[in-house]
Amino acid sequence: MRIAGSLRNFSRLDEAQIKAVDIHEGLDNTLTILGSKLKANHDLREIALVKQYELTEPVECHAAQLNQVFMNILDNAIGALEEQRTSNRQPTPEIRVATRSFAFTDGRLGIEIEIADNGPGIPDEVRSQIFDPFFTTKPVGKGTGLGLSISYQIVCERHQGELTCQTAAGGGTQFEIRIPLVLDPNADSELGASLINAQNPPEPPEAPRKKETVDAP
Ligand SMILES: Nc1ncnc2c1ncn2[C@@H]1O[C@H](COP(=O)(O)OP(=O)(O)O)[C@@H](O)[C@H]1O
Ligand SMILES: [Mg+2]
Repeated sequence: MRIAGSLRNFSRLDEAQIKAVDIHEGLDNTLTILGSKLKANHDLREIALVKQYELTEPVECHAAQLNQVFMNILDNAIGALEEQRTSNRQPTPEIRVATRSFAFTDGRLGIEIEIADNGPGIPDEVRSQIFDPFFTTKPVGKGTGLGLSISYQIVCERHQGELTCQTAAGGGTQFEIRIPLVLDPNADSELGASLINAQNPPEPPEAPRKKETVDAP
């Protein structure tokens, strides 16, 4: 079962928090889970997927949280391509996922993951707010406005990395995720943990569980 296996791998519930993992596996699992949203159906054109994977080493990270970041950014890209998918006059909707090694200005070695779409881009007045909690341009019931603020915390605080966005109204959008190859355990910030946990509730402690009984309220 491809999806079930991908989901198990995506959430990585059975693993230690920080672990050296293959980033490409995380990206591919996320793309598999989103697979049906990329495919063509009666009134939607297929989204072309371009992968440019260049990493050769595993990366130390909170894999489940990083997968959540991939999911949030890819989900936004798919949403942004909606218009393009219904109109034949628009260019073919495309998402590009690229990975490469990277060196931070402070000397730390790391990796960069680029997720780009050729959607409508983000106008300047919106661009300055996309990482704010609860900021959304989507209709009520469609967006929570939490995807990018949670992603920002996971990348910048949990992983001591950088999350940036390049976009132009009318010219597509590109997000860059940069994280170090090795995490400094002392620098792991708990700031924003509540927001991250709101989306990713921690596993309950391994206490001997009582048999479920239905109690009258
Ligand atoms: N790839 C993208 N193309 C265009 N706009 C985007 C893209 N990614 C994010 N946005 C903008 O950023 C806003 C915030 O995104 P997010 O935090 O994920 O919340 P939500 O998706 O629930 O609206 C979106 O409502 C949208 O306006
Ligand atoms: Mg979103």
